[in-house]
Amino acid sequence: MKHLLSISDLTLEEIEDILKMAGKLKEDRYRNRVSDYLRNKSLAMIFEHPSTRTRISFEVAMADLGGHALYLSWNDLQLGRGETIKDTAMVMARYVHGVVIRARKHETVEEFARYSERPVINGLSDLEHPCQVLSDLFTIGEYKGNYRDLTITWVGDGNNVCNSLVLASAIVGMKMVVSTPDNYRPREDIIKKAKEAYGGDIVVEPDPKKAVENADIIYTDVWVSMGMDNEKEDRIRNFKGYQVNQSLVDKSKDDVIVMHCLPAHRGEEITSEVLEGTHSVVLDQAENRLHVQKAILVKLMSDIEFEE
Ligand code: CP
Ligand code: NVA
Repeated sequence: MKHLLSISDLTLEEIEDILKMAGKLKEDRYRNRVSDYLRNKSLAMIFEHPSTRTRISFEVAMADLGGHALYLSWNDLQLGRGETIKDTAMVMARYVHGVVIRARKHETVEEFARYSERPVINGLSDLEHPCQVLSDLFTIGEYKGNYRDLTITWVGDGNNVCNSLVLASAIVGMKMVVSTPDNYRPREDIIKKAKEAYGGDIVVEPDPKKAVENADIIYTDVWVSMGMDNEKEDRIRNFKGYQVNQSLVDKSKDDVIVMHCLPAHRGEEITSEVLEGTHSVVLDQAENRLHVQKAILVKLMSDIEFEE
C-alpha cells in the first residue's frame, strides 16, 4: 500500500505508468467501454476546503470504475467536533478502500496517512497538489508530445500547485522558470530538493516578460489561495505586473500553451481574453483530472497492471 501525498512520492516510472494508464482510460470513456476496475470498492473524500474539479472528478471516476465515492465535509464528520485525525483514519480504513483528503495544512494529510491502513491521496494541501500536476503532465503530453526539452514558465504566486510543478518538472526532465514577486517564491526546500534529488533545471526570473520569452507552457494560478483571504488586499497589490494577459502571451513562442488549474479569478492573475483565447488549454486540463485520477485510483486501490 502506498500513499500519494507529494508528487515526489512517485518515481518517473510510476508517473509514466499512471499517464499511460490514463490514456487508456480516457479512450475507454470516449468509446463507451466499461472499465470497472474498482467494482465494490469505496473511496472516502474528506474536504476541509471547497472544491469543484477535485470533488466531481474523483466522484465520477469512482462511478465509472464501478465503485462508490463518499463526499465528507470536515465539519459534518466528528472531526469537526474534535475527534482526532488518528482515530478517524483508523476507523475509516475499516470501511473504505482509499481516502482522498483536502486539508488546510499538509501536516493533516501526513498525519491521516500515518494512521491509515488504506491509501491516502492528497486532494490539495497548503504545500502541494499532486493530482493536479499529474493531470497537467498528461495534458502537456497531449499538446506537446513529451516533456523533455520543454520549458514551463510559472507566473504569479509560488503556491501549492507551483511547489508540485517544481518537483514534477524536475522528475520528468522539463525546465522550469519561476516568475514571482520576491516574497512569493515557491518553497526554498522544494527548489533545493528538485535540484539535488532530481537534477532539476529550475530558474528564478522575477521579470515575467523575460521569463516567458522561451516558454512552451505558461502556467498561472490565483493570487489568493484558499485560506489566505486575510492577505487579499496585500496580495492583489503585490502581484500587479504578474498578470497573464495577451501582451505577455505575445512575448512568448507562437505555439505556447496557457495553463491554469482553475478556479480562475478573471482580471486578476489572468484576463478573460487569454483564458478563453487560442493558446488556452484549461478545459482539457480540467477534464484530464478525471482520466488521470482514475489511473491513480486503479494504481493505488487495485492489483491491476496495465499491459502495453
Ligand atoms: N483545480 C482544482 O483542484 O479545483 P477545485 O478546487 O475546484 O477542486
Ligand atoms: N492555489 C489554489 C489552487 C486551487 C485548486 C488554492 O490553494 O486555492
